[in-house]
Amino acid sequence: MVRWFSGNGHGKSEQEPPRDAQGRRVIIDVRDVTKVYQMGDIEVHALRGVSLQIYEGEFVSIMGPSGSGKSTLMNILGALDQPTSGEYFLDGLDVGKASDRELARIRNKRIGFVFQNFNLLKRTPAVRQVELPLIYAESPGNRRQRAIAALEAVGLGNRLNHLPSELSGGQQQRVAIARALVNEPSIILADEPTGNLDSKSGTEVLRIFQELNREKGITTVFVTHDAFIARHTDRVIMLRDGKIVADKRVEQPLVAGEVERPSEMAELGEIFRKTYESTAEEID
Ligand SMILES: Nc1ncnc2c1ncn2[C@@H]1O[C@H](COP(=O)(O)OP(=O)(O)O)[C@@H](O)[C@H]1O
Ligand SMILES: [Mg+2]
Repeated sequence: MVRWFSGNGHGKSEQEPPRDAQGRRVIIDVRDVTKVYQMGDIEVHALRGVSLQIYEGEFVSIMGPSGSGKSTLMNILGALDQPTSGEYFLDGLDVGKASDRELARIRNKRIGFVFQNFNLLKRTPAVRQVELPLIYAESPGNRRQRAIAALEAVGLGNRLNHLPSELSGGQQQRVAIARALVNEPSIILADEPTGNLDSKSGTEVLRIFQELNREKGITTVFVTHDAFIARHTDRVIMLRDGKIVADKRVEQPLVAGEVERPSEMAELGEIFRKTYESTAEEID
């Protein structure tokens, strides 16, 4: 059995995952994965044979229309759900063969999750929310101190005792990021983390993800509907009807906050121009 590669050199049965030409490890290795949901008599084919390799330190966005399988894929990547068929190796560990205990350990210590709806506890102050994963992981040391440091890292050092209702959407999402960060994961999985935010808070949240990726080398997978946001990542994967239809490197990723979002009018203009052009062609 392929063992979790922790890099500490203790376990003899550990097997190093494959590396690319630059020596980067494949950290996420999905092989021909399908997911079928059974809804009474109806089978919903949410993923129809997805193969995907993500290297350590990559910042990848996953795009695709609603219902194309993005969240299903993220749940599998996070070992929250198992595929119907196919294999998934997470940093060398065969997730399909891992025990519940191993999976829980990975989710707690190696992966940070961020969701569209923040998923914060309503009556719990920020610092306590961020402390919780440390308590679940039975992490030693001064938990409160580490929670404070994580909140400081996302610019919320002055909001430690605020409840979610006392914070803006952008601030709530930053608490959620601090919570994802506090166990020092090697992977962050974020499912539409800017989906409920206005453009300014969205940019702020994006800037934090970019910094975590660039400065700490955290492998980041980021689901978004928004092509402008995707242009801030290294690589864009497009899903449609449960299949990968495009997988492209972003030539020069934008730096969050440095480039203004093209105005809606400009974007609309572009769409209309194309529409008229294609109409003109048809008339020709
Ligand atoms: N728990 C579930 N039970 C049944 N069908 C589901 C479930 N979760 C997702 N689906 C279906 O699987 C397809 C992909 O859903 P999802 O992965 O949530 O797409 P996305 O995140 O891209 O919007 C959709 O048709 C959706 O209705
Ligand atoms: Mg979704």
